[in-house]
Amino acid sequence: MAKTLLKNGKLVNEGKIQEVDILLDGELIVKIAANISDTSATVIDINGNYIIPGIIDDQVHFREPGLTHKGSIATESRAALGGGITTFMEQPNTVPQATTIEKLEQKFTTARNTAFANYSFPFGGTNDNLEELKRLDKNSCSGIKLFLGSSTGNMLVDDEAVLEKIFSSTEMVISAHCEDENTIRRNLAEYTDKYGDDIPMEYHPIIRSEEACYLSSSRAIALAKKTGARLHVFHLSTAKEMDLFRNDIPLAEKKITAEVCIHHLWFSDVDYKEKGAFIKWNPAVKTAEDRDALWEALLDDRIDVVATDHAPHTLEEKDNVYTKAPSGGPLVQHALPAMLEKHLEGKISLETMVQKMCHNPAILFQVKKRGYVREGFYADLAVVNLNSPWKVTKENIAYKCGWSPFENQTFKASVTHTFINGHLAYENGMFSEKRNAKRLTFNRP
Ligand code: DOR
Repeated sequence: MAKTLLKNGKLVNEGKIQEVDILLDGELIVKIAANISDTSATVIDINGNYIIPGIIDDQVHFREPGLTHKGSIATESRAALGGGITTFMEQPNTVPQATTIEKLEQKFTTARNTAFANYSFPFGGTNDNLEELKRLDKNSCSGIKLFLGSSTGNMLVDDEAVLEKIFSSTEMVISAHCEDENTIRRNLAEYTDKYGDDIPMEYHPIIRSEEACYLSSSRAIALAKKTGARLHVFHLSTAKEMDLFRNDIPLAEKKITAEVCIHHLWFSDVDYKEKGAFIKWNPAVKTAEDRDALWEALLDDRIDVVATDHAPHTLEEKDNVYTKAPSGGPLVQHALPAMLEKHLEGKISLETMVQKMCHNPAILFQVKKRGYVREGFYADLAVVNLNSPWKVTKENIAYKCGWSPFENQTFKASVTHTFINGHLAYENGMFSEKRNAKRLTFNRP
């Protein structure tokens, strides 16, 4: 395979920004140094723009198998490349669900044939698949996913005894969706009594409340402490939960880790009036004070990872009254531009953004040879121009569902190039048709 030489880039990597050239040979990064020359390489001038490691998104829903009217591994992984995301971990709430090793492996087969970005899939734990879970090879997939609160796909694990057994039976990272089901049911019943199905959307964070989140995440953390399990709490949304996480030890030593998603960092409850069901997610987008606390915890390292929870639904599905409009929205194409916008507002440094979106998911899931720009690592890279404004419109949305919660937003920064395993897969709005994505491998002793 050919060599590519990236010249005049500013590399954001491992806590530093350096003006270096990067030489790619085949699928690998082979040299990082000032002024590299190699006459056999194709030279790409990065023009002083920033180069970051390809983003690892540890939580997406690409809807295949079974829900491909919303999106597929092909369509959504392609959109991800347009947003600088070169690796994804796709969640098990598909149809059928990835709750047996056979069904999980079928997803890997589909990805091998159709994915544009590197992939892995967690195994979905349920109330009745413990024996299957115990048979999992810990290096075969990204980890275990548990819904400790129901969302799209009805995968609630609510049997306390089974939960304790799951937590005690695996060394793998258990990623958990935490919202207390009883609290949500009680709140929902109260609001349906009052409004019927057409509950005003701004009550979503009152129904899927702070209390529902806190009860569930604090219970999961208590169980992880009791059993010694390795717990990663997905998509945190409240200030109250932030006290549950520590920042006094390095990520590699943490047994309990935390994630925040783009929508919880960007939107707040004042946005329900304008955006309605387009910002209806589980857990719900909450108050501006919650959002501020999430930022604070992200920056002081109580929160380790920024992900998307990309979860497309069709416009027809979203165009419904509260109880019928599904939760979730597409984000992979716009997560990096949104974070860069926050960088340009002075909220986060490029180095910290790269730590939370690239390095930390690699550390947390022990991903082999990705998440950093290093010699000998896979050449997964994104190039961003911080001064190249563009507006999100129907015409430039790459998701199968054809809409975005960011529609009409102008972002100041653009993703100009995305390389995956050494191949230039995206350049200024154009996607390559070539597929060279790989199944993730892990460093798990
Ligand atoms: O809002 C959500 N939608 N949250 C989730 O965790 C699941 C997702 C979906 O699959 O639609």
